[in-house]
Amino acid sequence: MTDQTPASEGGEWSLEVLADAYAYPEGDSPWLRANMVSTLDGAAQHDGRSQPISCDADMRIFGTLRGLADVVVAGAETVRAEGYRPARARDAFAARRAAAGQGPAPAIAVVSGSLDLDFSLPLYVSPLVPTLVLTGAGAPAERIEAARKAGAEVVIAGEGSRVDPARAVRELADRGLKRQLAEGGPRLLGQFVAAGVLDEMCLTFSPMLTAGDAQRIAGGPSVDVPERFALTSLLEEAGFLFSRYRRI
Ligand SMILES: NC(=O)c1ccc[n+]([C@@H]2O[C@H](COP(=O)([O-])OP(=O)(O)OC[C@H]3O[C@@H](n4cnc5c(N)ncnc54)[C@H](OP(=O)(O)O)[C@@H]3O)[C@@H](O)[C@H]2O)c1
Repeated sequence: MTDQTPASEGGEWSLEVLADAYAYPEGDSPWLRANMVSTLDGAAQHDGRSQPISCDADMRIFGTLRGLADVVVAGAETVRAEGYRPARARDAFAARRAAAGQGPAPAIAVVSGSLDLDFSLPLYVSPLVPTLVLTGAGAPAERIEAARKAGAEVVIAGEGSRVDPARAVRELADRGLKRQLAEGGPRLLGQFVAAGVLDEMCLTFSPMLTAGDAQRIAGGPSVDVPERFALTSLLEEAGFLFSRYRRI
């Protein structure tokens, strides 16, 4: 079960140790990993954000997973609610990224049908690597134009205004972005699950109870048959559990 569990130094895992533990599998196929946090009672947010249910160690793993990824995929609502900024280049991952032929930071890929996004934000106009906007062929033409003008790369990955989740994975892989990291939100993650394209789930269990009607980590229509995953590592810090599951 915990064959890849890293040792902690002084009760804290270094970014190096975490990066080894969470390395993407070798190979040419795309690999879609999701990273989410949930309370004990299944809430994926509190007051509309994930920060209140997260912790420092969770943010270290969040940063590590970004440091290993070619691309971070996020739904437009998460990008809007969490105020996404461009991913940073971090010294801790620089050598590893260079050796793997990766750019200095992952690209952010925003999934949106409406393209109701603020294209004047740094995420679009001044990222280290161009931000991608994944949308459908029927998205508003003037918004596609606005995205391109800001410097974003628009990727058509579906008909109408909807993105087809399986096609999104393929389109990103075709651009050399094979190490994929989905950061939610629940509406987008649910579609990756339903399409059967999620390879790995990194899930933080937060030792909190919130009650209420917050979303679960994955929403939308249910799958016909629950898909089975196997636990590959489990870490603990301050009562938070950091689990990693792979599709069987
Ligand atoms: N617990 C966690 O780990 C975690 C992680 C991430 C987010 N969150 C929380 O989750 C909430 C936001 O998540 P959410 O589920 O409401 O929204 P979301 O999945 O982040 O974004 C939904 C939006 O993404 C776009 N979208 C999704 N699927 C699409 C498709 N197939 N084709 C085209 N566009 C598509 C649409 O954007 P348009 O409306 O622009 O068309 C849709 O309104 C926030 O409260 C955030 O804090 C929690």
